[in-house]
Formats: sequence, structure tokens, C-alpha cells
Amino acid sequence: MSLSSSLLDLGALLERSRLTAPPSLSASARTELDLSFERARRTLEEYGDSPRFQRALATLLERGTEQEGIREALMQLGPWRKGPHVVRQVAIDAEWDCRLKWARVEALGIDLEGRSLLDVGAGNGYYLRRMVENGAAWALGIEPSVRYFFQFLATELENPSERLALLSERVENLSPNFPLFDVVFSMGVLYHVRSPIDHLVWLRNRLKRSGELLLETLIVPGTDNNVLVPRHRYANMRNVWFIPSEPLLGIWLERAGFELMSSGEPVRTTPEEQRATAFAPGPSLLDALHPTRPTETVEGYPAPTRLLVRARPRL
Ligand SMILES: C[S@@+](CC[C@H](N)C(=O)[O-])C[C@H]1O[C@@H](n2cnc3c(N)ncnc32)[C@H](O)[C@@H]1O
Repeated sequence: MSLSSSLLDLGALLERSRLTAPPSLSASARTELDLSFERARRTLEEYGDSPRFQRALATLLERGTEQEGIREALMQLGPWRKGPHVVRQVAIDAEWDCRLKWARVEALGIDLEGRSLLDVGAGNGYYLRRMVENGAAWALGIEPSVRYFFQFLATELENPSERLALLSERVENLSPNFPLFDVVFSMGVLYHVRSPIDHLVWLRNRLKRSGELLLETLIVPGTDNNVLVPRHRYANMRNVWFIPSEPLLGIWLERAGFELMSSGEPVRTTPEEQRATAFAPGPSLLDALHPTRPTETVEGYPAPTRLLVRARPRL
């Protein structure tokens, strides 16, 4: 079946997202959010692939589209890095099985009930949904990838929630007056930013005094204050800048004004958690590991290992 040629009323879809913010937000926070939603709307409308993505969404919305058409429309929005999701009875097996990371988040024992949450680098919103399922009053994601934003809209068609929203933005572009949250998540972002301590300070400044940070990042082995700056790529990724050792991460957090509360165990990424699938057919973890030394990346660096930590602002 061919994809629909009609475009969606994107403005109306985004407006619905904008209206999800809780009424308890202060007037100035509300104004900042409105400005951010407006910028995000322009980004989405001006993005080159936006008409193609909108047509795929319109196909998903049409009554009577057969399963093959739904699958084809979902493929148009791919690759799907984060999941699993189900949209109109089609199961999307994404490159990352995010259930494993979420189980590690839950093991840290953070209470989300009734709290307002910010997820920086939210991807297609997989974790926003888990946060709301776990009782969050409101979960807002920030994600600059337009493709992931359209994936988020596809999952919203299936499973709309008035307690979550996504903004198409880079965290650095948000105003310092952006609203304050009870819990800020930054998972898988720290090593992608060129200025990791500024990133941590920004996260701290988005927390209420009683709030807490849940940070997940790649780390390198070592008990010293050391950091890996990849010469070119790390595990085939071009946009990796700084990977700290666990002790150095503690120092960065301290320097950014946090107090460490608890840490999970370092976890090596396995092909069970990250692998190529029909919805994400490109290279994946196994292509990024050394062919004969699986504890190293293809570049000869330590293989991807991740750590989750909880921290609160030092008062
Ligand atoms: C490795 S993925 C992690 C996604 C998800 N948080 C997770 O843990 O599975 C990093 C995400 O952060 C986003 N990202 C990268 N730089 C960012 C920035 N400066 N501000 C906000 N998001 C960013 C990317 O587009 C990508 O979706």
C-alpha cells in the first residue's frame, strides 16, 4: 500500500502537547515553556524531511490502513533506536531494549509518584512513558532529533497521555528561566556534549532545591581521576567527547554543585540490550566491538560500560 499524500495538522498535534503542562507552573515558567514550544514548532515545520514524516503519520492515522501499510509507514520514521513500542498492533523491536536500562533505574529506588520530571535527550520518549506509568505527575522530554520527535508522535497516536510532552530542542538553547523540576534525568547524553561540566550545571539549575538528578553515562575503567577523549570515534560514534572514570564523574558532579546519593553497578552493554533489528537495520554494538577482543571497541578503547547515579543539589 502506498503512503498517504496528505499532510497532517502538525500545529494542532503540537498544541495538544503544549497544553499538557500542569496548572501549578508559575506564570514565568509557563511563558518560557510557551516560547520553547513555539521554537520547537518552527524547527519541526522547517525540517527538510518533515513532509515525508508527516505523510507517514497521516497513514498511521487513516482508518483501514492494512498492517503492511502501517509497517511501511513506521519504517519511514526509522531507524527506531529506542523501544520496544507497539503502534496500531505492529510491534516495533528497536535497536535498544530499553526495558533493561529502566530496570536499572528502578533498582536505584527513586520515587516518581506525583513528581514533575524532565528527561534531557529523551529520544522518542520511551522513558517518558515509563515515568508516567510509575506515577509521574508530568514528564517533559527535550530532544533535538526531529526524526525521534515524529516517532514520539506516532507512539502518541497509539497511547496518548496528558501527562507527558516532548520539546524539539537542544538543552543548551533553553532559557535559564526554564521551569524547575523535582527530578531531572540525563541518560546517555553527558559524553555527547562538548562541555560536560556546563551540562551538569545546567541540569542542577533546572532542579528544585529538594530535587534530584538521575544521570547515566559511559564510564572508563579506573580508580584514578582519568578521562578518555577519543581521538576520532568511540565505538563507531563520531560525537563522543569525554568519558570519565567513576571517580572523576564524582568530582565533576561535586564541581557542578551536586552531592552523590547512590550509584548502581557499572554495566557492560551486551548484544541482548543493543542489536540490529528489522526496525533498526544499520550497524550496532557487535560492529562497534573489536572482532577478536570483545572487551575493546573497534578503535581499541574499553568496550561500552555504563553507570547510573543519583545526586542532589548541594545546598
Ligand atoms: C545515546 S541517546 C540516549 C537516549 C535516551 N536518553 C537513553 O538513555 O536511551 C542520546 C540522546 O540525546 C540527544 N542529545 C544529544 N545532544 C543533546 C543536547 N545537547 N540536548 C538535548 N539532547 C541531546 C540525542 O539526540 C539522543 O537522542
